[in-house]
Amino acid sequence: MKVLVVGSGGREHALCWKIRQSPLVQKLYCAPGNPGTAALADPVDLAADDLAGLVRFAVAEKIDLTVVGPEAPLCRGIVDEFQKHKRLCFGPNKAAAEIEGSKAFARELCRRHRIPGPGFWVYTDHQQAKSFLDNREPGPIVVKAAGLAAGKGVTVCRNSEEAKAAVVECLERRRFGDAGDTVVFEEFLEGPEVSLITLTDGQTIVPLEPARDHKAVFDGDQGPNTGGMGVITPVAILPRMRAQIESQIVFPTVHALNREGRRYQGFLYAGLMLTNQGPRVLEYNCRLGDPETQPLLLRLCSDLVPLLLATAEGKLEAQQAPVWDPRVAVCVVACSGGYPGEFKKGLPVFGLDRVATGPDLQVFHAGTAQRPGGDLLTAGGRVLAVTALGDDAAAARQRAYAALQQLEFHGMHYRPDIGAKG
Ligand code: AMP
Ligand code: GLY
Repeated sequence: MKVLVVGSGGREHALCWKIRQSPLVQKLYCAPGNPGTAALADPVDLAADDLAGLVRFAVAEKIDLTVVGPEAPLCRGIVDEFQKHKRLCFGPNKAAAEIEGSKAFARELCRRHRIPGPGFWVYTDHQQAKSFLDNREPGPIVVKAAGLAAGKGVTVCRNSEEAKAAVVECLERRRFGDAGDTVVFEEFLEGPEVSLITLTDGQTIVPLEPARDHKAVFDGDQGPNTGGMGVITPVAILPRMRAQIESQIVFPTVHALNREGRRYQGFLYAGLMLTNQGPRVLEYNCRLGDPETQPLLLRLCSDLVPLLLATAEGKLEAQQAPVWDPRVAVCVVACSGGYPGEFKKGLPVFGLDRVATGPDLQVFHAGTAQRPGGDLLTAGGRVLAVTALGDDAAAARQRAYAALQQLEFHGMHYRPDIGAKG
């Protein structure tokens, strides 16, 4: 069969790497892809949000399955467009993807269906938002831009003064554009965090292995939030907590969407905080996480393609449960100096040829570009995602960080503590 992967980051490089291994796949394309995917899939010169162009390509090339990585095309309705042209596209349709597209919708869905999350308050008016902050109990609070902001629209504030500054960024300075037209305040929760991604066709629900992202840019969880600086999987979760996550959050979310006429088919990502009172939803994403995908796919023994096909066709029930490598996988992101703020692009990347990759170690390209003639250059905030397997966290970390030592670009930054807590 012919498969098209849509996107250009580390997640999509990992998807291409895994899909390429499937005996079902004769031809693989990636739109637009990156220098890493180009070694595995034919590049297609179409942006991930060029819905009309992608549909035309899929029809002309008779693509059997299109797999969408990022949230933007899903939230804009790429799956609906493909359906109109009778082309199979993996991912939730526009109505279901709203669970990520609007944090206000996601929070209200949880409230309507009693899915546990933090207390929250939604505002569009600056004065009203300020007066809410003036009149609440003192203490920390979280401010979120309601729309899509590439993981950077969340500010954890120590007090109302910091929260007011975050509101100014959103509603007045419009730092996140339209995505910040609405702000959501959330009760500040504490506890370990875990990302649980579930594969579902709206009926059958298959949770993947739990993973832990590290969102803050600096070690010790300091500094502003990023799209994700590194991941470890699996994460030990007490059996009782695990059962609560499934019965109180994952299953009810899929059913809630069904009941509201938004059948969900695709990867549903729940960002969770494991509080002393039980698990709480911090956010939903309508797709695989980046960089969660990289270590998860390194651990996935099963062929991914039949699972994707069955989900898109609504026949997941007939599939065998995925088989996981029991070892630990760690992914460390090497990012541009300055990210998630301003950073330089176009800096030469050295050392990839010094890294011996294989089934236990992969360097996925996240934000790179190839200069005509050869040099690899930085082209984004997150540049490379070094992903390694090991018998335990220490071994996986050792392998990933040894590879990172070989890599170099001006200003390269990575967190030294990914997976250090085991
Ligand atoms: P989100 O993109 O909504 O997952 O938020 C990014 C990060 O901000 C999370 O991974 C948490 O570390 C933190 N965060 C988000 N919501 C809350 C909350 N209600 N309480 C405490 N921390 C939060
Ligand atoms: N790593 C978090 C995300 O993909 O949203």
